[in-house]
Amino acid sequence: MARVAVVLGLNYGDEGKGKVSTFLAKNSDIALRCTGGNNAGHTVEFNGDKIVFHLIPSGILNEGTDAVIGNGVVIDPKVLFEEIEVLKEHNVDLTKLHISTRAHLIFPYHIAEDKLQEFLKGDDKVGTTARGIGPCYMDKANRIGLRVIDMYSDSFERKLRRNIQNKNKVFELYGFETLNEDEIVKDYLNYRDMMKPYVMDTVSYLHKAIEEDKTIVCEGAQATGLDMDLGDYPMVTSSNPTIGGIQTGSGLGARDLNEVYGVCKAYASRVGEGPFITEQNNEVGDTIRELGHEYGATTKRPRRCGWMDLVALKYAVRVNGITGLALNHLDTIGKLGTAKLCVGYKLNDKIYDESSDDIIGHENEVEPIYEEFKTKFDIKGEKDYNNLPTQAKKYVKRIEKHLGIPVKFIGTGPDNEDMIIR
Ligand code: IMP
Repeated sequence: MARVAVVLGLNYGDEGKGKVSTFLAKNSDIALRCTGGNNAGHTVEFNGDKIVFHLIPSGILNEGTDAVIGNGVVIDPKVLFEEIEVLKEHNVDLTKLHISTRAHLIFPYHIAEDKLQEFLKGDDKVGTTARGIGPCYMDKANRIGLRVIDMYSDSFERKLRRNIQNKNKVFELYGFETLNEDEIVKDYLNYRDMMKPYVMDTVSYLHKAIEEDKTIVCEGAQATGLDMDLGDYPMVTSSNPTIGGIQTGSGLGARDLNEVYGVCKAYASRVGEGPFITEQNNEVGDTIRELGHEYGATTKRPRRCGWMDLVALKYAVRVNGITGLALNHLDTIGKLGTAKLCVGYKLNDKIYDESSDDIIGHENEVEPIYEEFKTKFDIKGEKDYNNLPTQAKKYVKRIEKHLGIPVKFIGTGPDNEDMIIR
């Protein structure tokens, strides 16, 4: 296996990255998170129970795998310790958890600001997860963010109080509830002590691991369509869930990354606002949602559903340097009878077979060009590609042809083991 394998979402999140990450983590010494925060979420079955992960890499469930929360992650300590408690109840060894000194902290004012900013955007709201992610990254860019390491500095309380006071003035201005300064300070001084055993210089730790020939899996969060620079701005998250975020969010260098797996579904979904060219806001979308159980792990929101968009995927494959595809929910497509693949866009009588800036701002006018496939098959739990019916193989081959990369993993059911590995 590769020394460092990266798992990235290629659409709008919720592609099932957890499944591939969990598989790769089984043979990895370290499972690593690099970007985002508890806006992400995935559920893993463990000893008959379901454990929901928002922050801690789920690879920690393997006995021999350490978990690292890298410097690019934004951490809500309340959520972190809720997760730690659940893992303790399952007797998971928490000495394997390492948290970067440089990771930024989410404070209650970030959550309040997330709601205020969405309110102020009116009809242009993003539909965020309201977890304070955006405002935390804003403070990071504004140089008023507080990192894990800052909690151990003498100036921490002074800086935190100043932030709360300044934010409260804004909340007051807009008639939003102000926050209790003393309570927040007390809580975070408490978190400071609780977090201490886990805190370390994860950049040095990761490079030492590479020198010792250890294997690392980077569990990507969110996805290319939500990337602040390369996604559908402004309907995006506030970090870089593409390959660049893996490097800046961990301190790993470009040559350290060996395999980059891109995860997508055999259809497409999105939560929150924003363009979705292949969306089926109709009975077809409703059927996909029910068959694929498309409800958010973090917010429980019903996901918007539609067909797989090979034009958008080709772009995602390029910008991330994807070396292999993980295609989830092929079994779900088999329950539909027919499925469509979007192989091009038509806009103002012009045909596009790859992404173009001409499309930006005109997504609603784009006419997707579809190829239709017969997809009536039951492949639940199948593990051998050779056993797939011709219809399923045809669908996979068409995707490979358009994207120019091999499909390495195929999801054939909801369980982690329901997967073909090629
Ligand atoms: P934020 O990340 O909470 O600021 O939300 C910005 C946008 O990204 C919204 O449309 C969210 O629904 C979306 N988003 C953020 N994280 C995820 C995720 O893990 N899966 C799917 N959508 C996400």
